[in-house]
Amino acid sequence: RFLKASSALVAGLVLAACGKQDAPAAPAAEASAPASAAAPAKVYVVGTDAAYAPFEYQNEKGEIVGFSVDLLTAVAEKGGFQIKFVNTPWEGIFNALGQGDRDLLISSITITDERKQTMDFSDPYFDAVQLIAVKEASKVTKFDDLKKLKVGVQTGTTGDEVVTKLQGKTSANIKRFESTPLALKELEAGGVDAVVADNGVVIHYVANNPAVKFKTVADTKSFAPEQYGVAVKKGNAELLAMVNKGVAAMKADGTYAAIYKKTFGTEPAAAAAPA
Ligand code: ARG
Repeated sequence: RFLKASSALVAGLVLAACGKQDAPAAPAAEASAPASAAAPAKVYVVGTDAAYAPFEYQNEKGEIVGFSVDLLTAVAEKGGFQIKFVNTPWEGIFNALGQGDRDLLISSITITDERKQTMDFSDPYFDAVQLIAVKEASKVTKFDDLKKLKVGVQTGTTGDEVVTKLQGKTSANIKRFESTPLALKELEAGGVDAVVADNGVVIHYVANNPAVKFKTVADTKSFAPEQYGVAVKKGNAELLAMVNKGVAAMKADGTYAAIYKKTFGTEPAAAAAPA
């Protein structure tokens, strides 16, 4: 009995002593083991509204592809980070960034002073301008002609902004759609007289849908030049620096020009690839 009790007591003391030494030792051992197995690299989540060919859209397999995808993939490679694209509706895209559901946005986003208040932008990677799409028989020759007409836009885009400015906030003639292709479908159906959207997307749509018989109307006097940027959450300077490094590298080594040519079939104009 005495022996049992005594050995139990000794065992207890030994355990207590070991416990004191083991406690700090254990995490140290754990920390060194996974370090050699390399912690998995962070994969940054990229939001894009993939209904904007040829910039970001889904192919027959449902994969997100396009100019923006090729571009940011190359940027990440050069910048030394990993990304994955997640289709994100335009209407919620800026909130998703603000809430941290997305780390990056590439979605043909025009850099504007207003947006700069709530997010940070990379150096510009593409020049754009608004363009008017109308039916071939339309008499519209300039933006001002749209003042009293029914105009389709994608909600919350720079196209929406210019048309709202032209017609006034309360205008009942502005038809807002959740995507630009939906606005163009409505033009085809005759529900609107014109659509105002980014030139690249309008040109692509008209070229790829010859049966719809649209024409485009440019108006450089009315539309200010726009530039696309990659957006990060306000204050995320580290990620922004990685993106800018990649953008600069791909412009310098010809990758940008190659992706541009793959998408648009031509060399980028000097102005399309701002240095
Ligand atoms: N550039 C325009 C803007 O920033 C339209 C962008 C729309 N992008 C898209 N993927 N739907 O407002």
